[in-house]
Amino acid sequence: MDTALATRTLALNTPAGDGNLLRFITCGSVDDGKSTLIGRLLYESKTIFEDTLLTLEKDSKKHGTTGEEIDFALLVDGLEAEREQGITIDVAYRFFATPKRSFIVADTPGHEQYTRNMATGASTAELAILLIDARRGVLVQTKRHAFICSLLGVKNVILAVNKIDLVDYDETVFQRIVADFSSFAQNLGFTSILPIPLSARFGDNVTERSANTPWYRGPSLIQHLETVEIGATTENAPFRFPVQWVNRPNLDFRGFSGTLASGSIKAGDPVLVAGSGKTTKVTRIVTADGDLDRAVAGDAVTLVLAEEVDVARGDVLCEPQDRPEVADGFTAHVLWMSETQLQPGRSYMLRVGTRWAPATVTGISYKIDVNTLAHQQGSSLTLNEIAVCEIQTATPVAFDPYEENRGTGAFILVDRATNETAAAGMIVRSLRRATNVHREDLALDKTARAGIKYQKPLVLWFTGLSGSGKSSIARLLERKLHAAGHHTYMLDGDNLRHGLNKDLGFSQADRDENIRRVGEVAKLFVDAGLIVLCSFISPYAAERKAVRDLLGEGELIEIFVDTPIEECERRDVKGLYAKARAGEIKDFTGVSAPYERPEKPELRLETVDTDVDTLAEMVLDYVRRAALAGENWVSP
Ligand code: ADX
Repeated sequence: MDTALATRTLALNTPAGDGNLLRFITCGSVDDGKSTLIGRLLYESKTIFEDTLLTLEKDSKKHGTTGEEIDFALLVDGLEAEREQGITIDVAYRFFATPKRSFIVADTPGHEQYTRNMATGASTAELAILLIDARRGVLVQTKRHAFICSLLGVKNVILAVNKIDLVDYDETVFQRIVADFSSFAQNLGFTSILPIPLSARFGDNVTERSANTPWYRGPSLIQHLETVEIGATTENAPFRFPVQWVNRPNLDFRGFSGTLASGSIKAGDPVLVAGSGKTTKVTRIVTADGDLDRAVAGDAVTLVLAEEVDVARGDVLCEPQDRPEVADGFTAHVLWMSETQLQPGRSYMLRVGTRWAPATVTGISYKIDVNTLAHQQGSSLTLNEIAVCEIQTATPVAFDPYEENRGTGAFILVDRATNETAAAGMIVRSLRRATNVHREDLALDKTARAGIKYQKPLVLWFTGLSGSGKSSIARLLERKLHAAGHHTYMLDGDNLRHGLNKDLGFSQADRDENIRRVGEVAKLFVDAGLIVLCSFISPYAAERKAVRDLLGEGELIEIFVDTPIEECERRDVKGLYAKARAGEIKDFTGVSAPYERPEKPELRLETVDTDVDTLAEMVLDYVRRAALAGENWVSP
């Protein structure tokens, strides 16, 4: 049977229409009877065409699981079949209507691995039908779906206690499930929760109240769907128009194309460009079918403005009196949707509205256990985990809190390497306003620069003989710090002596000058908020002390790479010891020039029996525990 014909599948951006359209989502665990319920709704509302019905009756007898009855699941299970064939379907939108209302139902798969599809469906839904198998009661998956619905702004819930026939229409089973769910859902902010005892298979309480459940006094499922009050719609929210592209076919026409995310606009209305704060007026609302006087949320239009203001793709046009936030940091609920776990500090591409910006998750405030709603500590997120995170974008973006505006408060994070959508997010609030006005006010100092990087600026100073292993450890450590989201820089003797310090040799005076310059540079980088790794023989105690004095209390960590000269000479990576012994290099540290061992380094590393990775981990561990204890940095 061709199920695709039996149901009309609508595109995601079907306009909201005249308000007598209700968008809802069905969710629940696998086998809770979702397909049967949707099939039943389509059947009861006579949306199924007659010929389809005949086929369905035949198919039910042949393949169905319901004996002589119609197996409604066969109507919609085409979705599963398509999926089995490897056709990617995110969400199937099915349309049906009764004389009182039209409906778009988002049909999403119940398996946990499809949580993201479920979230997509919920993001445009005004109501959710949460299906529960009366025999199994409230499951973790029920709670997960309820919680995701609440995060995605679904305010109305129908708790459909399905398969009530299989528990002999027993009221106590129903009441126990209702009590269970209510205690879980009380803090989820739903405005209405209606529990209905249901048999999707036999039709109890679907269209009319069933005689099998005389104890149930509420409306039938369809009655409730037809009459439930939907609160504020996106059309009533403030005007937001994320610009999709600048439409400039010739020199005489310049318009801005996109879809109204919320609110409405009339020709003649003033508008403001959220980023720049420039205002102008809308002169025309152009569509393929001619000009409009007024456009509303969901309409795709091209706006022509009175003045030549600077507007680009990704900008948001809004009401001058009610502007979105413009900021480069915010907290948000994040639903992780990738098999690859979240790496705080790593750069992802964020899309909010039509704007793309590089972004990093700079901190995880807490993870949320979907089963208990308890808050948990966490340093990363794995598939389907949900957390409140802090996010920084490379450039300011315009948005509204998701609670106020679903169109402009949602975003996605895309993995830059694989192009996979790694997460969906709902913005809670901005972390700091980054409007131009604010920028001027902000006194930029070390704390501010380091704060945006969520780290304490430090100098990790490696000292030791040539060939002792300083640079190898420092390089690996830098990679580890970087992977953990830190902003670092590496200063290395061999490299600097090719540039900044190429005028210097190896006399004591030149070495002192070498280290003095390096100390000054490191200090500048610390002021920039960086973690600076320095790798220099720095053989004289006095020059090392001078560097320490340049920096603030606790900012220098001196790491003595204590490799005996015999070992350095045995390694002789660069062949310099041989040359020094042969007298070809003079003043060579350890051979013909002194090395003064540090008396009280913060760390001393012995390299003979320990590999580089272990040594780098030891430093990392020290940095985390001793130097950054209590600091607000992202722990690797
Ligand atoms: S420091 O003594 O002034 O701190 P620095 O770390 O910058 O020295 O440079 C050391 C590097 O310079 C060594 O790793 C080695 O490759 C090279 N080098 C060349 N000549 C000498 C020398 N006479 N003594 C030590 N290192 C030297």
